[in-house]
Amino acid sequence: MTEHGVRLGTIQETLLIPLYGRAAENRKKDAILRDPRAEEIVASIDYDFARFDGLQSLIGTVLRTALFDRWVADFLAAHPGGTVVEIGTGLNTRFERVDNGRARWFDLDLPDVVELRRAFFTATERRSMIAASVTDDAWVETVAAHSSGPYFFAAEAVLPFLAEADVHHVIHLLADRFPGSLLALDTAGPGIIGTQDEHDALGKVEARMQWACADPAQLTEGRAGVQLLTSHTLSNLPGPMFDELSPSYQEMLTGLGALRMPQVEEYRLNLVRLS
Ligand SMILES: C[S@@+](CC[C@H](N)C(=O)[O-])C[C@H]1O[C@@H](n2cnc3c(N)ncnc32)[C@H](O)[C@@H]1O
Repeated sequence: MTEHGVRLGTIQETLLIPLYGRAAENRKKDAILRDPRAEEIVASIDYDFARFDGLQSLIGTVLRTALFDRWVADFLAAHPGGTVVEIGTGLNTRFERVDNGRARWFDLDLPDVVELRRAFFTATERRSMIAASVTDDAWVETVAAHSSGPYFFAAEAVLPFLAEADVHHVIHLLADRFPGSLLALDTAGPGIIGTQDEHDALGKVEARMQWACADPAQLTEGRAGVQLLTSHTLSNLPGPMFDELSPSYQEMLTGLGALRMPQVEEYRLNLVRLS
């Protein structure tokens, strides 16, 4: 039975794509990750999710989430009392998958998303929600006032929706306030930005990405001290992660890599150190 109507802004609506991707993945035998909460949430939201049924890019969203999960888990293994900030969290359930019982956690998104999020997630002493735009300067002070480092910022499928100047503003904002912190972000090249109407999932919603980043190494040019630690395409995932996938997923990704499609080659998952 439907419990929650969805009245989200245009860009905010995109959170329903990775949510549905995780719910669909959870039903598979050889799932890349498990997310029973996503299935429950999808079942209780009044939205035409069927438009995303069977889309190839849903698997891409799940692989991206799984890699971000690994990066956050690695960070928490090294810094069990560290702070994780999910930027543009949507209805992400990373906390449910990787929390270690000690970390401080913030979930930040635009006000209408946080209002919806509050219907499904409860704030605790260690887990807070912040309703703000990532481009506003004030939220970093809220985080700084209620946590201590080190910090990991996960911006999954968020920054490409901003204008390039806003992306640079966010990078400077984080680097100035939290020097030494880690930032995970995805980048999309011009071939992707220019063909979004044909994208299997984005073609079904109104939102469009704005920031074209041909090479994530450019992130280091805008500010001395920013280091690109690692960068992956979906067809070139870290070896240990690839090895844990089912044989059918491995075969699919190997085949995808052989095609060398711009939509795959130009979409990168990056981990940077800010300073
Ligand atoms: C494609 S969804 C990704 C959601 C989530 N990270 C995930 O992977 O499930 C994009 C998210 O970015 C958020 N977003 C877009 N612009 C934002 C901004 N200026 N400040 C904060 N969040 C923003 C949207 O509201 C939405 O939740």
